Amino acid sequence: MLDPNGHPVVASLLDLMMAPLHPVRRRVIRHARGRVLEIGIGTAANLRLLPEDAPISELVGIEPDPHMRRRAQNRIDRLRPPFPVTLLDADAAALPFEDGSFDTILATFVLCTIPDPAAAAHEMHRALAHDGQLLWAEHTAAAGTTMRGLQKRLTPCWRQMAGGCHLDRDSVSLLQEAGFALSVHSRPRHPHHPLPVHYGTGSPAKTPTGQDTPVPPSPQ
Ligand SMILES: C[S@@+](CC[C@H](N)C(=O)[O-])C[C@H]1O[C@@H](n2cnc3c(N)ncnc32)[C@H](O)[C@@H]1O
Repeated sequence: MLDPNGHPVVASLLDLMMAPLHPVRRRVIRHARGRVLEIGIGTAANLRLLPEDAPISELVGIEPDPHMRRRAQNRIDRLRPPFPVTLLDADAAALPFEDGSFDTILATFVLCTIPDPAAAAHEMHRALAHDGQLLWAEHTAAAGTTMRGLQKRLTPCWRQMAGGCHLDRDSVSLLQEAGFALSVHSRPRHPHHPLPVHYGTGSPAKTPTGQDTPVPPSPQ
């Protein structure tokens, strides 16, 4: 059930439920570099999939759920990554960082759950350096009307069970509307995880001179 004090059961099942998505995670996080901000770090599942020689100088993970944070801290203590890691209790919709503070923003399977995903996407854009990169992966609303309708009908019940997760968000458009130019790849359907999953990289679409770069359309 949705609980302002966090979701202990979801936190305990998250790694198992997300295991079929490891190949997508690997494809995304291998590009992480410099000062990295991970949005809604959860149990820090991405940490163990990073390449050993990832050129990361620091990782800051924000996570409002104390049960997720505890599991993330346990994983960090166990893995002892070769760069400093800080976990913060913070909301992606109001990031406590200066503009342009990060070289990489990592956001995997998180816009589905954040209560105000549009505000979070704008905050990610603000906190990213102008030459920085967004690394993202999300399950999204399907393109087909039948599947999309099913996702819409299931979401009220699913979000109660799954810590606030929505099945029917168009997260690719949310990122584009926040100003990101995205590369968009689509994962083939997985028998144990049938939701449409898209992933890729992104850059701030506005250059420092204020010119716009073209934003590719959402996948259909
Ligand atoms: C489906 S989990 C994904 C966790 C992790 N990103 C991963 O890839 O395994 C969604 C996460 O978003 C977090 N979350 C929910 N609301 C948030 C908010 N307002 N700001 C930041 N994270 C949030 C949840 O607590 C949860 O850990």
